Amino acid sequence: MRILVTGGAGYIGSHVVKLLGERGYEVITYDNLSTGHEWAVLYGKLIRADLGDRETLRKVFREFRPQAVMHFAAHIVVPESVRDPLKYYRNNVVHTLQLLETMEEFGVKDFIFSSSAAVYGIPEKIPVPETAPLKPINPYGETKATVERILRDLSRAGTGFRYVSLRYFNVAGADPEGRIGFAYPDPTHLIIRAVKTAKGELERLEIFGTDYPTPDGTCIRDFIHVTDLAEAHLLALQYLLETGKSEIFNCGYGHGYSVLEVIRAVKKVTGRDFPVVEAPRRPGDPPVLVAENRKIRERLGWRPRYDDLEFIVRTAWEWEKRT
Ligand code: UFG
Repeated sequence: MRILVTGGAGYIGSHVVKLLGERGYEVITYDNLSTGHEWAVLYGKLIRADLGDRETLRKVFREFRPQAVMHFAAHIVVPESVRDPLKYYRNNVVHTLQLLETMEEFGVKDFIFSSSAAVYGIPEKIPVPETAPLKPINPYGETKATVERILRDLSRAGTGFRYVSLRYFNVAGADPEGRIGFAYPDPTHLIIRAVKTAKGELERLEIFGTDYPTPDGTCIRDFIHVTDLAEAHLLALQYLLETGKSEIFNCGYGHGYSVLEVIRAVKKVTGRDFPVVEAPRRPGDPPVLVAENRKIRERLGWRPRYDDLEFIVRTAWEWEKRT
């Protein structure tokens, strides 16, 4: 089975490439290395090219003849998407459209898409089910919701195209074997920033808002270990190939931790105390974001192995110490 993985040199993509390789899939990674790394691609060949480069993309389809495509390549920084929406619409929407057109040209029907809980905006119901309305509150979330609508319409067009869209909640941690992990410059994510502060790379950790309507006043998120998320991709692929049904699944554990609980866990796991300061709310942060995950458990038989905050933090910390 040959799988084309766009963005396979990035954080989540590289964990999926590793799992695909371990399970005997033939993988080819297509990545422009704008945020990814060559060393992160542990299996198969890496084609260093931009998704906007249609000739190279066609050549890869022609020569590699993938049976399915997993599409991770995207920009993911919410504040940047607010400052530079065109960059986000071009890469996340236009390039995805071109990828879909190329799939159509070469008769490739199966597509796994990296979506995000950002499509829900500020959800009315927690835990949020997949049926909740799409109401993104920033351009990043808009690009993901737009692609989801394109996929829905394409799957209904009678061409045989089918897809699984996975809506990620807060992905964190690193490969438990320590070979790959998060490696982007200027990270904004809580757990990464906390372990970097523990390491001394950042002076202090800011808590963005302590007056939210939550038990301790800080935001609550559903943190999911990147390896459990990678496993969900393999199950989604199998499901798609076996049933031929297009579906959307939340990827989260179904319960959350507050920012303060995360900080406590990081201090405990690293054994290091570090300065933490209260700061104003960060615009666009929903108070609570937790997945309803019954659907992915029932339909895909997904059984997460690392639903344990301290384990997530430990793998992030082990990785951070190596970088
Ligand atoms: N936070 C801090 N201090 C920091 C970093 C984060 O207090 O230094 C807080 C944030 O304000 C938020 C929580 O920690 O309340 C989690 O923030 P992250 O930046 O780690 O993650 P987000 O919940 O903002 O982001 C996730 C995904 C995005 C997606 C978004 C949708 O990573 O891709 O959810 O809301 F768009």
